[in-house]
Amino acid sequence: MLLEEKQSPMILAIESSCDDTAVAVLKGAKVLSNIVASQLEHSDFGGVVPELASRAHMQNMVPVYLKALEMAQVNADKIDVIAYTNGPGLMGSLLVGTSFAKSLALALDVPLIQVNHIEAHVLAHLIQNDKQSNPTFPYVCLTVSGGHTQLFYVKSPSSIIPIGGTIDDAAGEAFDKIAKMLGLSYPGGPLLDRLAQNGDPNKFKFVAPIYKHVDFTFSGLKTAVLYFLQKSIKDDVAFIEKNLNDICASVQKTIVDALMKQSLNALNKFSCKQFAIAGGVSANSALRFAVKDLDKKGFDVYIPDFQFCTDNAAMIGVVGYYKYLDKMFSSISVTPQTK
Ligand code: KG4
Ligand code: ZN
Repeated sequence: MLLEEKQSPMILAIESSCDDTAVAVLKGAKVLSNIVASQLEHSDFGGVVPELASRAHMQNMVPVYLKALEMAQVNADKIDVIAYTNGPGLMGSLLVGTSFAKSLALALDVPLIQVNHIEAHVLAHLIQNDKQSNPTFPYVCLTVSGGHTQLFYVKSPSSIIPIGGTIDDAAGEAFDKIAKMLGLSYPGGPLLDRLAQNGDPNKFKFVAPIYKHVDFTFSGLKTAVLYFLQKSIKDDVAFIEKNLNDICASVQKTIVDALMKQSLNALNKFSCKQFAIAGGVSANSALRFAVKDLDKKGFDVYIPDFQFCTDNAAMIGVVGYYKYLDKMFSSISVTPQTK
């Protein structure tokens, strides 16, 4: 393969780490198409069933790939490089994307670039988008998803320093597990958010203990809500039904307050004036509202477009772009990493 270096390569990006099959086409850091097939197979099970996820990726991958090319109006022979998620995630899910990426790279005779999923959430802010400005370096990024809750100090695309994180459950996991206790289907985070919008966030007092430094803990909150619900249902079997919106709003406020408090600690610790949020939970309306409020306190805040919050392949592509510029290509023998 003769690699002709380009400043704006045509990038095909593939994401399959969990339950979203996603393919995007980018020209440099600009997104030409961004297609996601979200799997509905898991909603009855209260969580992602790994075997079902792998099977759905197998079914969705080729149609999603063809749709991404069609939407971008790009032929496969114009692709210069393939970027794909190599982890963390579910092994079966990662294997589908990895195998597809490798096969396509061999067939098209183009280089391959492995991308870390969490790094991709953090660097989604570098996607060039007419609607939004990009942060400059350094920035603090709160990455909140179903599997991860971490704070990073981002000095450059290749220098992303973890500065804190959850010691137990991720914020998205807390949203989903509490939503499940309330009888909401998986993933419960977005549903809980919707119900919370009609509720009183100060009706019930819950606590998410503030852990030392800039770390988080959410498993205590989950247990506290469980005990609170069990006790309340004993007094009134219809308690959840009667108070659903207020419970959702109160839980949401507790999680968002903890996220914001530690983020502010991190910003002060690093004397950093730029703050970004990333990952599925950054779609949460209360979190977005609280982050916007930091604007008034003199911080420059960056909130991703909804399509770049939850799992997507555009964010994989933008990391691929920066790695391409640094010639950080991957061998065909590289294997997925679940952690
Ligand atoms: O980043 P993501 O799409 O996948 C992972 O890498 O985990 O994040 C999914 C998580 C789920 O826990 C989902 O419930 C949560 O993000 N989520 C939300 C909202 N939208 C997605 N949580 C609260 N409010 C939302 N609006
Ligand atoms: Zn994610």
